[in-house]
Amino acid sequence: MSRFEADYYDRFYGGDGVHDRAKIDHLATAVHEMCAWWEVEPTSVLDVGAGPGLWRDWYRENHPSVKVTSTDISEYACEEFGHEHRDISRWRPRGRYDLVICHGVLQYPSRPDVEAAIDNIAAACRHVLYLEVPTTSDFDSVVDIGATDMAVHRRSGDWYRRRLNQHFTQAGAGLWVRNGGGVVLYELERTR
Ligand SMILES: C[S@@+](CC[C@H](N)C(=O)[O-])C[C@H]1O[C@@H](n2cnc3c(N)ncnc32)[C@H](O)[C@@H]1O
Repeated sequence: MSRFEADYYDRFYGGDGVHDRAKIDHLATAVHEMCAWWEVEPTSVLDVGAGPGLWRDWYRENHPSVKVTSTDISEYACEEFGHEHRDISRWRPRGRYDLVICHGVLQYPSRPDVEAAIDNIAAACRHVLYLEVPTTSDFDSVVDIGATDMAVHRRSGDWYRRRLNQHFTQAGAGLWVRNGGGVVLYELERTR
């Protein structure tokens, strides 16, 4: 049986969880507007590991003309919340998406799987990636242990950066721009 069943979503999204609709409202607005600032008007969005589908719902409500593809490895989440059933470690979409969202997902796959997932995300991303993944240091000193799934893989920020830097430039605040994707950052808009 998968770990991503009803009790998982009740526990982490049932009120005292990691984040909720109101928080995603702020974040999605900021990410969408940063894309606009970079002259990327997302017309296609891929949400990897969409869970309860908060990003997809935000887009439906605020930008209904944007085509959002939401995916998840969990059969339960796909049926309950309406996503395509995909394991990002094993699925590389044929097309590309202006904006890819991967929020709280990459701590779950094992090492070879997460490496494949990063490559698949890069292949799917035309311009911008929003990525949040807790690192070893976050687990040690930042996350709220009552609201966070601690039974996951812990990898350092450098570990992720080494792999992400092969495809993206880190802008900060979870935003990464695809190398060769047409977004050019000023020196102090990026982290390296
Ligand atoms: C913490 S939840 C995040 C949900 C959503 N992104 C959010 O931030 O509200 C993690 C989700 O990642 C999904 N997931 C884990 N491994 C995955 C994989 N290899 N491919 C796709 N989804 C995966 C789980 O099924 C679960 O729904």
